[in-house]
Amino acid sequence: MPEILLERPRHDVLLVRLNRPEAKNALNNAVRMQLAEAFTEAAADDTLRAIVLTGNAEAFAAGADIKDMAEAGAIEIMLRRTHLLWRAIAQCPKPVIAAVNGYALGGGCELAMHADIIIAGESAQFGQPEVRVGIMPGAGGTQRLLRAVGKFKAMKMVLTGKPVTAREAEAMGLVSEVVADAEVLPAALALAQTIAAMPPLAVQQIKEVMLAGADAPLETALMLERKAFQLLFDSKDQKEGMRAFAEKRRPDYQGC
Ligand code: CAA
Repeated sequence: MPEILLERPRHDVLLVRLNRPEAKNALNNAVRMQLAEAFTEAAADDTLRAIVLTGNAEAFAAGADIKDMAEAGAIEIMLRRTHLLWRAIAQCPKPVIAAVNGYALGGGCELAMHADIIIAGESAQFGQPEVRVGIMPGAGGTQRLLRAVGKFKAMKMVLTGKPVTAREAEAMGLVSEVVADAEVLPAALALAQTIAAMPPLAVQQIKEVMLAGADAPLETALMLERKAFQLLFDSKDQKEGMRAFAEKRRPDYQGC
């Protein structure tokens, strides 16, 4: 069985499912490589407008595969170069929605934080428990969590390893929306459909500027925003969107 499953619930939406139920979707190298390949291909696919990333009812992903690294040394871990595989997800220009049921722990929480929007089921749990097994987050957990929820919530989670509920995660800004467990995937797919109907160049520019700007000084970030805003005025979809508004009709976006 492949360790991730790819589906097209719509012609313009890719659904990526982690498929290691026997290990609570723990991320081994095969999963990471297949994810990187899927996101790299998705980035280059002009027919795709949004990606939904999910696990199963029990686990989004329970972290990096502990058994796969228990006996490894530092050089071996370095030579696995997993940061290059994560980068394929982080740099994907299409909007990514994580649909989280069950455990999103360690590398699983980090994977969810690679998404642009996180929809969580009421029973979902988010945590960075690496400290409990003698390590620390290694796929962005210390930095993305800090930026998402601020120092004091992030430190508490990472230093204690204690997970938070979906509602707590929502309150601290780690989750976009909490829905009933059974509604997670339908809600994520509905959101993907809404975004897929938006003009794709605008969507792409918004994602790029928001992510790049978050790590830049404000003046630089505002300049990035301004340039991207100006650029969109050379797209046909900008003309179409504004003319359709004035003519009181639905816009027909072409992605150019
Ligand atoms: N790695 C490897 N195997 C894992 C795993 C993981 N992260 N999480 C779960 N599994 C395996 C279990 O070993 C078990 O396998 P066996 O049936 O062969 O024993 C199977 O999945 C089912 O798990 P449990 O029996 O433990 O299920 P549970 O419902 O009692 O508990 C859980 C679920 C709370 C998620 C528990 O499995 C757990 O604590 N998992 C580890 C969570 C963790 O520490 N994650 C951080 C990993 S380090 C990391 O992610 C580094 C990084 O930043 C990149």
